[in-house]
Amino acid sequence: MDTLYLSADNKATASIAADILKKGGLVALPTETVYGLGANGLDENAVAKIFIAKGRPQDNPLILHVADPAQMEDICHDIPQAAWRLAQAFWPGPLTMVLPAKDIVPKGTTAGLSTVAVRCPDSDLTRSIIRLSGVPIAAPSANLSGTPSTTTAAHVLHDHNGKIDAIVDGGACRVGVESTIVDLTEQPPRLLRPGGITPEQLVEILGELTVDKAVTAQIDKDEVVKAPGMKYRHYAPKAPVVIVSGSREAAAGYINRHYEKGQRVLCFQEELELYRGCDPLSYGSEADPASLSAGLFDALRQLDSSAVTKVYARCPVGGGIAYAVQNRLKKAAAFQIIDAEVEA
Ligand code: TXA
Ligand code: MG
Repeated sequence: MDTLYLSADNKATASIAADILKKGGLVALPTETVYGLGANGLDENAVAKIFIAKGRPQDNPLILHVADPAQMEDICHDIPQAAWRLAQAFWPGPLTMVLPAKDIVPKGTTAGLSTVAVRCPDSDLTRSIIRLSGVPIAAPSANLSGTPSTTTAAHVLHDHNGKIDAIVDGGACRVGVESTIVDLTEQPPRLLRPGGITPEQLVEILGELTVDKAVTAQIDKDEVVKAPGMKYRHYAPKAPVVIVSGSREAAAGYINRHYEKGQRVLCFQEELELYRGCDPLSYGSEADPASLSAGLFDALRQLDSSAVTKVYARCPVGGGIAYAVQNRLKKAAAFQIIDAEVEA
């Protein structure tokens, strides 16, 4: 099939995209986090097409995207006060809440769970497409399963051109990493995935928050986890990634000693000079962690476009959005971390 390209500037884009969704088609949609691959989240057949297009494991549930907080009530029951407070504070925005699912949500969307993940994205265009379609839109990150997420329309076309009905081009995604996921079916609520809304911001509203093991450690394939998506090798370029931690000087010393031709260094802009002989690629400025989250997936994709044998990666420290960047990089590295202060 031909994939219809819809520009954000075209006034007809929202209604064309909504019509395709209503008919059960697949439309890639821009959000502030990453591009999503959207389908009618209440239509089992439409949702099945997402899994096929992405090559996504069947046990990995999808997020339903809503146009406004009130639409939560169409798909969730027993919504706690905390959910309304979070929606008021952070929606539209990069926060996904896990809540009890109403029967109207097909098992294909929830992967058989009794809960459903809900998010209201911060894109006026995408919210109007959702509103016009009249249904919540299921949308995982639009990348092929296991590969780095899609933060531009070009990334989406690279993965899906000719295989999906349409793409809405809303430009590069502002946040660049996927939404924060918090499970509100537990007390205290549990952080399942860090993202643009930081743990500090959640604690301010919720008082208490636990952090799921899958956020900080490698999960065994057979382990039962709260967010099934967190156990798969993720966000990863084809070449193995190793994080080199430690001071700027110690890391540069370690990497320059071990570097071999064909390998690459993924580093901060401030460090490019230190890796002149090591084919470095910057993904943003260490002084501006938001630039790192915005640039991470594009950089990981660039590392895939040539025959790279190994990637040494520099990872920011600290909280806020840097915490989400750490999580994605650690997953891309399958938690392979070398401490340059200790290892020679
Ligand atoms: O920013 C985002 O959240 C993007 C954009 C497109 O909105 N979407 C996204 O979807 O990242 P996806 O499918 O790539 O990641 C969704 C994650 C998966 O790890 C999945 O296992 C988890 O959410 N998830 C979905 N429903 C869940 C549920 N009921 N309980 C626990 N985790 C769930
Ligand atoms: Mg994803």
